[in-house]
Amino acid sequence: MRIPDEIIDEIRSASDIVDVVSASVPLKKRGKNYLGLCPFHQEKTPSFSVSADKQMYYCFGCGKGGNVFTFVMEHDKVSFVEAARTLARRAGIPVPEEGSADQARTTEFEGLYAACRMASAFFVENLFSTVEGKLGLEYFRHRGFSDDTIRAFGLGYALNAWDGLVRRAERDSIDPAILEKSGLILRRDDGSGYYDRFRGRAIFPIFSPTGRVIAFGARKLREDDPLGKYINSPETPIYSKSRVLYGVYQARDALREQDAAVLVEGYADLISAHQAGVRNVVATSGTALTPEQIHLIARYTKNIILVYDADSAGSKATLRGADLVIEHGLDVRVAGLPQGEDPDSFVRKEGVDAFRAILDAAVSFLDFKAEFFRSQGMLETPEGKTRAVRSLVETLARMSDEIKRTFYIKSIAERYDIYESVLYRELDRILGKEAARARYGASRDQDAGSASVAGQTQEATAPEPETVPAAEKDLLKVMIEHGPPLMEFVLTHTEKGNFTHPLVRAALDLLFRHKDEGWDPSRLVDEVEDPRLKDFLANILFARYELSRGWAEIGSEPDLPDPWKVAEQSVLRLMAVELDRKIREAFRGLKEADAEGKSLIPHQQLIQALQKEKVGLKSLRLLGNR
Ligand code: CTP
Ligand code: MN
Repeated sequence: MRIPDEIIDEIRSASDIVDVVSASVPLKKRGKNYLGLCPFHQEKTPSFSVSADKQMYYCFGCGKGGNVFTFVMEHDKVSFVEAARTLARRAGIPVPEEGSADQARTTEFEGLYAACRMASAFFVENLFSTVEGKLGLEYFRHRGFSDDTIRAFGLGYALNAWDGLVRRAERDSIDPAILEKSGLILRRDDGSGYYDRFRGRAIFPIFSPTGRVIAFGARKLREDDPLGKYINSPETPIYSKSRVLYGVYQARDALREQDAAVLVEGYADLISAHQAGVRNVVATSGTALTPEQIHLIARYTKNIILVYDADSAGSKATLRGADLVIEHGLDVRVAGLPQGEDPDSFVRKEGVDAFRAILDAAVSFLDFKAEFFRSQGMLETPEGKTRAVRSLVETLARMSDEIKRTFYIKSIAERYDIYESVLYRELDRILGKEAARARYGASRDQDAGSASVAGQTQEATAPEPETVPAAEKDLLKVMIEHGPPLMEFVLTHTEKGNFTHPLVRAALDLLFRHKDEGWDPSRLVDEVEDPRLKDFLANILFARYELSRGWAEIGSEPDLPDPWKVAEQSVLRLMAVELDRKIREAFRGLKEADAEGKSLIPHQQLIQALQKEKVGLKSLRLLGNR
């Protein structure tokens, strides 16, 4: 169903892009824009820019850009309508409800959500209402999960058959292609049909933060099952493992209320803790913590408690995540369980009060590291001490809060009998290196609008707009930023043929089509279907003027050249390019005439005239006495 245009406009004006983006990406003000770590690719130095004036965002690292609607679409992986609804809800704007279940199939995302919803209901039904499902139910009960818990986490059971889900989908006329895309069924090798991915297993549905089922984990129950302990859904358009944390949906209120997230490593650990009353708990699925997952937690709280089991290899991966958490400005503490215990086994053996006591005793990551080094005897030898100090200070250097740093230096120095000055010297050394790296990073960001620099430093995902000629880019930018009067100027002095890059031509078509509708560049983005064009428009808006960078004389503020002068210079450049093309053609004509023994004179005259015209460009003024 279409949402009426007036309502879309209302949503647009009620949704400030900086606010909306900040809810999921921590942003810092840098000059006119806001800067943060890009939610669309992995990075360590921020290249994701958000502009409040333009109401647009653009990542100089991966080239993704757009407006507030496309941000929600790409971030939450939803359709335009769905994104508009999310924003409307946020702003308290009522939107007429959509009608039917068919509506859910209108987009790919909706289809995938529907497939997961159907499968999840099927697994629950199997668990409670089939003879075979008893095996699953017994398993969960044996683990100590109550029926309420089983319901709250939507736990289920996948039949021990090749076609349990396949047949249910047939019955409900669900398109098997969608189910395949959701990773729930697979195509047979001979192509003759499909079979279930999860067979004879206990099912843990994975929810999005808003409570939709997006994937599944499936635990082995039978001795004769040849596959691994857990089988998980593959990555799909609605499920990206590195961005999701298990249990966020069930935990989100508690995360806010308690202002801390307890991070554990498995489905069962999370559910046990939750059932015992520790509800502010989220889980990785046995993999190292990613920046996206940290962003996700940061939406609810800035404090993370890692639960560490001295034994487990998985926990080491989580601990490695601690430095990453600190780097993102969150606070991380570490709670240690006795050897060989995970939260699930510990809560069941010792009870929740003992578990809470362990969480309360969590120490800062620095103290944890220092304690670890001491327990290893490292502080007893000079070499060991040097290595320990270096490692501690590396963690300190990741903190951006100077007050915190000073505090930790004092406390480490006192407790481990290390001179403060030694710690500071090491810190300066590391920060010196960092600063050099940051300077490089900053100049890269500033220059990212330029073709060559951006092209060199970005990986293969960088967009093609790097190849757009500077004059074409500048003209497009000046028109997008300053609207109709400059467009009239460009229309008067150029032809479409002057623009060579396909993205520029597509952008011009778009611009000229909407020339008379009032001027709002971020609104243009909604008319764009090709995502490359959308990213390109954002790229143009966040880029600097390229030609103007050579014009030291142009104004006192190199950032803000006079748009009319930019337009004039760029048009002159395009005219020069066009004349060069004509001159080359004229030379070709001359050569041909020579080869055919025809008169050369008209060709020579043409060349002379064109060359004179080109010289004339130097003194040509297009702006009159503006
Ligand atoms: N995991 C996985 N695939 C595996 C093993 C583990 O995806 N083959 C993930 C699961 O999310 C699991 C987490 O890693 O919950 C932790 O693994 P592990 O400690 O081995 O499992 P537990 O959660 O303790 O599982 P259980 O208690 O059911 O044995
Ligand atoms: Mn376990």
